Amino acid sequence: MEYQHLLIREEGNIRTITINRESKLNALNGETIRELGAIIDDTEKNEGIRVAIITGAGDKAFVAGADISEFSNYNASQGEELARIGQQLVFDRIHHSAKPFIAAINGFALGGGLELAMACHIRVASEQAKMGLPEVSLGLIPGYGGTQRLTQLVGRGKALELIMTADMLTATEALSWGLVNHVVEGPGLMDKVGEIAARIAQRSGTAVAAAIRAVNAGLDPTLDPTRNGYETEIKAFGTCFGTRDFTEGVSAFLEKRKPNF
Ligand code: COA
Repeated sequence: MEYQHLLIREEGNIRTITINRESKLNALNGETIRELGAIIDDTEKNEGIRVAIITGAGDKAFVAGADISEFSNYNASQGEELARIGQQLVFDRIHHSAKPFIAAINGFALGGGLELAMACHIRVASEQAKMGLPEVSLGLIPGYGGTQRLTQLVGRGKALELIMTADMLTATEALSWGLVNHVVEGPGLMDKVGEIAARIAQRSGTAVAAAIRAVNAGLDPTLDPTRNGYETEIKAFGTCFGTRDFTEGVSAFLEKRKPNF
């Protein structure tokens, strides 16, 4: 498929997806959301891909939010549809993807941009990145899962402070809040993200997928109405024993060699 607003690069089994609307600070218009939905689908199905990285084109922005110019005339039901379609096509899909997604936050990550980063499994920011959910300054609230995922990542008090003030955090503040995993100085962002991706790509893909499923289960009543992540973990742990990767991983350990997953 040809993408108008995405650049796709693959190195071995790692795919980098760059949102490429630099003149609009990579704001997510409807077409970009649809293209992201398609590439997430393809990433899930493509057996050659083990880890995906998402970043923004240029050095100013990761993603400066949903494209405000597209929804300026929307009514209540169109607004609801905007949020629902985005969550279904992109944000929830990444959150629940069996393959890990890493956000390389190279600049402004605002509104839908921070929500995109938060849907990913890991976030790494460059030191000049700025992050926030400024929707209340537009008379809106976050609509791509931000109220839920920010609360899960940083707790209710900090989440409400960031959402209600519409303030931006520096990368260092985001690190101390637990919103990002690492902050990288200078131009090393993609190297750092690439190293993390490569380490994950060496591990068992079926086990990585099971770990994502178990971690998500306790947080998400749609996966597990009792929110009993422990039960999901027990079942997923058991399922691992029936996989080729388990046989290979344990054999490799006993034979003192590296596993070939
Ligand atoms: N939607 C649509 N266009 C956007 C956008 C968005 N979320 N964010 C930035 N842009 C566009 C600007 O309109 C401008 O386009 P133009 O050159 O055609 O006028 C271009 O990107 C550059 O942005 P600009 O505002 O001129 O850059 P800046 O350096 O002065 O400010 C920001 C940077 C990020 C502070 C500012 O762009 C901003 O506040 N963006 C909106 C953030 C937001 O509220 N996101 C949540 C949306 S729900």
